[in-house]
Amino acid sequence: MGILTDDMKRVVRQQRMGFMATVCPDGSPNLSPKGTATVWDDDHLVFANLGSPVTIENLGHNPACELNILDAFLRKGYRFKGTAQVVDSGELFDEIKEAYVTGSHGIQRSGLPAKSYVLITVTRAAPFMSPGYTPGKTEEDMRKEWTGYWAGVQETNT
Ligand SMILES: Cc1cc2nc3c(=O)[nH]c(=O)nc-3n(C[C@H](O)[C@H](O)[C@H](O)COP(=O)(O)O)c2cc1C
Repeated sequence: MGILTDDMKRVVRQQRMGFMATVCPDGSPNLSPKGTATVWDDDHLVFANLGSPVTIENLGHNPACELNILDAFLRKGYRFKGTAQVVDSGELFDEIKEAYVTGSHGIQRSGLPAKSYVLITVTRAAPFMSPGYTPGKTEEDMRKEWTGYWAGVQETNT
C-alpha cells in the first residue's frame, strides 16, 4: 500500500486543480495553480507543464515541493509534500503523455501538448479542513452552504 489513500486519490482526481509550491533560489516561495494535477500511482502525483517556467526552474535547483488540493464545496482537502522530478523525455515521458491522451492511470484526458510532466513523489500527505466545521456541522451542511454561495457569485458575475 502506498502513501495515497483512496479518499486522497478521489479528491485529487475530482478536483482537477491544485496549487503547487516550490522554493525560489532566494528562499522565497512560488505558488501557482495546476489544473492538470492528478494521481499517477499510490505514491506519486503528476501534472502537465503547459506553462510553468518558474516552477520548472525552481525544481532544477531544489526538488522540494508541496501541492494543495481543496474541495471548495466541502471546504476540505489534502496537502502533499514531497520532491518533484521534471520528466521531459524517455520512456516515462512517453508513458505519462500517453496516459493524458488515453485516460490510463485514471487520468482525465487532456488534448493539450505538454513540454514536460512534473512527477511528485509524495513523502507526507495530510488532510486539512475549514475551521468552519464547528461541532455538529456536517459535510452536507457545508456543501449546501457553499453551493449556495457559489451560485450567488455566478449570478452576480454574469
Ligand atoms: C485554472 C488554471 C489552471 C492551470 N493549470 C496549469 C497546469 O496544469 N499546468 C501548467 O503548466 N500551467 C497551468 N496553469 C498556468 C500556470 O499556473 C501559470 O502560467 C503560472 O503563471 C505559472 O507560474 P509558475 O511558472 O510559477 O509555475 C494554470 C492556470 C490556471 C489559472
